[in-house]
Amino acid sequence: MVARMLLLAGLGDRPPGREIAGPRVMEMGAGTGFNAGLLCALLGDRQVTTVELDPVLAAGAEANLKAAGYAPRVVVGDAADGWPSGGPYDAVLATFSVDHVPPVWITQALHGGRIVTPWTSQWCRYGTLALTVGRQGRAEGRFHSFASFMQMTRPRTAGAGPAPGPPAPAIGESAPERSSTTLSPWAVAGGDLDAEFHIGLAVPGASFAWDTSGAHAHTRLEAADTTTGSWATVDYDGRTSDAFTVAQAGPRRLWDEITAEYQGWEQLGRPDIDRYGLSSAGRATTVWVDSPATLVAAR
Ligand SMILES: C[S@@+](CC[C@H](N)C(=O)[O-])C[C@H]1O[C@@H](n2cnc3c(N)ncnc32)[C@H](O)[C@@H]1O
Repeated sequence: MVARMLLLAGLGDRPPGREIAGPRVMEMGAGTGFNAGLLCALLGDRQVTTVELDPVLAAGAEANLKAAGYAPRVVVGDAADGWPSGGPYDAVLATFSVDHVPPVWITQALHGGRIVTPWTSQWCRYGTLALTVGRQGRAEGRFHSFASFMQMTRPRTAGAGPAPGPPAPAIGESAPERSSTTLSPWAVAGGDLDAEFHIGLAVPGASFAWDTSGAHAHTRLEAADTTTGSWATVDYDGRTSDAFTVAQAGPRRLWDEITAEYQGWEQLGRPDIDRYGLSSAGRATTVWVDSPATLVAAR
C-alpha cells in the first residue's frame, strides 16, 4: 500500500538516492518514520517534511530515521494545519484516513501537485484518493481500490479530555416508525465494499453495527446518525430472506435514505470504487461517478 501510494503521488519512478533538488513532499503521520525514510531515499532529506500529532511518536520517528541515516524535517503538529514553511509541496501524502480534504493541503501544494490520502466515511473505511491540484484552491481526482488506515485524530484541547461527541442514539428506545423492506441488510453492510463505499459517500453521518446477540431478532443491523440522533434497525428473523422488519426513529429516516442510495448505485451499474472521483474547491466538495456531471454527493 505504501509503495502504491508513492506511485499515485508520482514519486515511485525516481532513481533512488537523488540529492539534487527534486519534488518537495509533506507526509502526514510520521508514525515510525518508515515512510518518511522511503521518501528521503527517493528524494533526499531536504525535500521531506513529516508532520506527526503525537510528540512521543514524532521523537521516535526522528530517532529511527537518524539511526537509518536520514534527517528529514520532523514536525509535531496537526496535519489539519499542514506545515506551510516547508512548502509549497509537489506532493502531500497522508498516512491516516480522512472523510474530507483539509483545504490547507491544497493551498500548501503547487499547481499540478498531487495529494494522496486514504479515505473513510462513517459507514466504510476504504479507498485511497489521489487528487491533482488546480488553480485557486481547487483539486480534482479519483478514488482507488486499496488502503484502509487508522482515522485522522483530532487534537485534544490542553487540559481537557477528548472532545465529547454527540451521544449515540438510544436505539430501540424512542417510539419508532415500523415497516418492512425487501432490501437485505447484508447488501449494504455485508462486505460488498463498493456498495458500502457508495453508501458512505451518499448517506453522510450514518454508521452501522450488527447485533447478533439474538436479544431482539435472529440478526439485527443497527444504523445510526449520532449528529441528529436518528437510528434504524433491520431485523432478520432467521427464516425469511426476502422481507425484513424495519424500525426507524429521529429526524432522518436512515433506512429509507440507504435504500434510495443503494437503488441509485444499482441504476448507475453498480460502479466500483475506481469509477468515483472528487472535486474540491475550498470548503465545497462534490463526489461523482465517471465525471463531475454524475453527482453522488455534495457538501
Ligand atoms: C498509520 S500511522 C502512520 C505510519 C507512518 N507513516 C509510518 O511510516 O510508520 C498514522 C499516524 O498518523 C498520526 N496522526 C493521526 N492524526 C494526525 C493528525 N491530525 N496530525 C498529524 N498526525 C496524525 C498518528 O499519530 C499515527 O502516527
